[in-house]
Formats: sequence, C-alpha cells, structure tokens
Amino acid sequence: MYSLIIAESALELVPSKMASHPAVANQAKRMGKKPQEMLLDISYHFGAMRGLQDAYRRGRPDLIHICLMNSIYTPLFLQGNLQIFIHTRDDRVIAIGKGARLPKSYQRFVNLVEQLYQQKTIVSEGNVLLASKQETFSDLTNRLKPKKVIGLSRIGDKSSFEGVAEALPEGGCMVVGGFPRGHFNSGTVKAMDTLLSVHDLPLEAHVVIARSIYEIEETSKP
Ligand SMILES: C[S@@+](CC[C@H](N)C(=O)[O-])C[C@H]1O[C@@H](n2cnc3c(N)ncnc32)[C@H](O)[C@@H]1O
Repeated sequence: MYSLIIAESALELVPSKMASHPAVANQAKRMGKKPQEMLLDISYHFGAMRGLQDAYRRGRPDLIHICLMNSIYTPLFLQGNLQIFIHTRDDRVIAIGKGARLPKSYQRFVNLVEQLYQQKTIVSEGNVLLASKQETFSDLTNRLKPKKVIGLSRIGDKSSFEGVAEALPEGGCMVVGGFPRGHFNSGTVKAMDTLLSVHDLPLEAHVVIARSIYEIEETSKP
C-alpha cells in the first residue's frame, strides 16, 4: 500500500470575521447556507479575503477537487493500493475512504465537503466516503508510519517522475502541496525524509499527482 498526502491544502470554512462581508453574506443567502458553514473560495470571496493573512494560499477547494479527480480514478487507488489524505492548512486531516467515488461536479463536491465539516464522517451505502479530524501533518505521518516520506517540490533535489517512483518503496508516502503558490512550511519539510523535484518548471499539483501515480503503477508491476 502506498500513501498520498495532499498537504497544507487551501481548504477551510469561511473565517468568522469574514461572515458579515456583503460578498459572503449574499452568496450564503443565494445558496441557503450559513456563511460560516460555506467553504472559503477565492473565486467568490476575493474582495472579502483582502487583508486575510496568507490570502494568496487560501480558498482553493477547486485545486483539491482536481487533485482528487486525478487520483481516485487511477488503477492504483481502484485496486486498493493507494490511501489518500488531505491535510489542510489549519491542521485538519480528511481521509478518503477505500474505493471512494467522489462527485465530478465541483458544486456537488463542495456541498459534500461542507457536510463533512458538520458531520465529521460521510457514509455512503454503508462505506465511509470521507472522515475528518483535527491532526497536524507530523501527527499524521507518525500515525501512518510510512517506510519513507517523499515530498515533491520544484525546489527539491533534482529527480524525475520515474525517479520518485523508484525512490518510493511499497509502504511509502508521497506528499504534494495542496496550495496554489509558495512552498511547504518548514514543519512539514521536517516530517519528510526527502524532498524531490520532478521538473524545472513549477507544475500543477494534479499533474504531479497523476504522473507520479502512473510511474508508481509501472514500477510496482509484478
Ligand atoms: C501549484 S504547486 C505550488 C507552487 C510551488 N511554487 C512549486 O513550484 O512547487 C503545488 C504542488 O505541486 C508540486 N510541484 C509543482 N511543481 C513541481 C516540481 N517541479 N517538482 C516537484 N513537485 C512539484 C509540489 O508538491 C507543490 O507543492
């Protein structure tokens, strides 16, 4: 079994101090939701996010949706050889259930995650689809005890997609950033064994995930 952690993800609820901003309040009214029960989304809340600390790294549930779409429909996941966790910037960990099928519609995905924030677990047809709890990145890696934790970053040691797959043993964990800009925090890097770069270009997380998973599948073929 391999693990994938999408770390420091730009996924969180609207902060309480933003709840009364007109852009947030109007959207909440339109959607029939409470402002603080909605996901922060820079596409809708750009004005309201002005002045929010690290705003450029926050409010991107779309990135997480695309990353999940590129990982949960891969043979590695479908065959039960990959477990996936979303670690958020506010230290929440969402475990993706074994064989989980998540909505391809972005709005349905958002609704599901908002429901998860209320209920902590989403069960579908008797199977846990999503489960969430408060946990730091290092507590998660301590709990999983992977054989090796490989972080992927453009500023890591020069490698390649094939190189990552070769360096990752069965039982190992790959970590990709779930944020739009910037690099991993030092605390996250400290919990990794190594940091590798797969390309000179800064790539989208979903491209890095899909290609790395493909190479892991190829490398682990009997
Ligand atoms: C949109 S990027 C974040 C931007 C960041 N400036 C960067 O270049 O890594 C999201 C994630 O994709 C992965 N990533 C992007 N480009 C990469 C590269 N050239 N090599 C390895 N990982 C990369 C990293 O895990 C990164 O945290």
